[in-house]
Amino acid sequence: MNSLTKHLKKSIEIIEKNNINDDLWRLNFHLMPPVGWLNDPNGLCYFNGEYHVFFQYSPFDAKGALKFWGHYKSKDLINWEYLGVPLLPDQPFDCHGAYSGSSLVEDDKMYIYYTGNVKHTGENYDYINTGRGSNTILAISDGVNIINKKCLLTNNDYPKNLTCHVRDPKVFKENDVYYMVLGARTKEDKGVVLLYKSLDKINWTFLNTIETENTFGYMWECPDLFTLDNKTILMVSPQGLEEDGYKYQNIYQSGYFILNGDYKSCNYSLSSFTELDRGFDFYAPQTFLDNKNRRILIGWLGLPDIDPFYKNKTVENNWQHSLTIPRVLKIINDKLYQQPIEELKNLRKDKLIIENNKTYNVDSSFELIIENINNNIEIKLENDINILFKDNLFTLSFDTNDLGCGRSKRSVPLDFCNKLQIFVDHSSIEIFINDGEEVFSTRFYPKNRNIDLKISCNSDNILYPLDKYSIK
Ligand code: FRU
Repeated sequence: MNSLTKHLKKSIEIIEKNNINDDLWRLNFHLMPPVGWLNDPNGLCYFNGEYHVFFQYSPFDAKGALKFWGHYKSKDLINWEYLGVPLLPDQPFDCHGAYSGSSLVEDDKMYIYYTGNVKHTGENYDYINTGRGSNTILAISDGVNIINKKCLLTNNDYPKNLTCHVRDPKVFKENDVYYMVLGARTKEDKGVVLLYKSLDKINWTFLNTIETENTFGYMWECPDLFTLDNKTILMVSPQGLEEDGYKYQNIYQSGYFILNGDYKSCNYSLSSFTELDRGFDFYAPQTFLDNKNRRILIGWLGLPDIDPFYKNKTVENNWQHSLTIPRVLKIINDKLYQQPIEELKNLRKDKLIIENNKTYNVDSSFELIIENINNNIEIKLENDINILFKDNLFTLSFDTNDLGCGRSKRSVPLDFCNKLQIFVDHSSIEIFINDGEEVFSTRFYPKNRNIDLKISCNSDNILYPLDKYSIK
């Protein structure tokens, strides 16, 4: 360990001693930064009987700055142990940030591929076409420490028509061959994915780009490519999409294409793009396969560059953002469905029957399931947040700025709304509609740990039995 690494690690240990856990907006069952800022989930994997989740971490600044990788592990996806900061921007090839990436598990090791961000100084660089290094780096880990880091590709190795923005390697193995997808921005400001191939995990050959016919955003971040139920899914987080009716309302999007044909040659086509989450706070999701062969997705329950649209009040308390709950992916009728992992059921504690149209004051950490909805429904939180299905439109909206801090309204048209599963965790809400056909994720900032909850459905005053579960 060089002395820069040693000093950075020491400084992080000191700053993590700041106790921010009495903040009323800290979450109960979500992964958060110990202090400071969190963004993308990284290096998700199941390794030697345990789940590993790394995350983009800026411990020194709750508004985000130099990026490290923080590390959590768990045996059951519920109880998590924080393992510190294994990956630091401590080499010339990653000195302005250990950016996002993935893990490949093989031979009792984690092969972690990530982007080393480098910003050159001293000239009039725009950091788009000039002045930025985006290095693809391999870090080998025993599951706790990084044993070795090696720079595999630099900007000179990428195709010539690209800007400096190339990042977020996702590596996977298929029939003894390794593949890597990277997100990129071309010189014509088109978002594309680069596909590389390797036989030894070290030497990579460029195969082709995967792209839409017409430009769909200027940059594609955080790609993921996998097969599920015999379909090939290309997930990306595009930047630069224009709002289109109810679609693409956030600053940046995250979603997927179904890829037909063979992406290893240029013989493929991409379906239209579907957003994964319709709420205010979701970005940069990644997936992995676990030992039960589940394709599990975890996203960032947040977005970059949301200021001036809306804010997160936790910045006042020296931290910002969390990851989403893990969601299992399924394909139904050519659509990705996201279902909360069933392990969360172990967190259910007390049951409460909620009666129609009555207000309850509840601890704001709960799961609410409403089934057999065959009519309109409205759920109100703190008399400010509305979750509404009416006239074939599902809407999440905030009446005032108090709780939403600028968040306003997001909607999705739906043929029907039969089931709602809602997870509230002190300052986050995740709503799963029709077993994950649509999902809305958002943050909110109540004044107390307890909040008012009222559910109203059906104009004929029929009472629906609704179960509310407190989570430990
Ligand atoms: C997405 C992203 C990635 C990048 C990382 C840096 O949120 O911009 O493209 O690797 O965050 O923190």
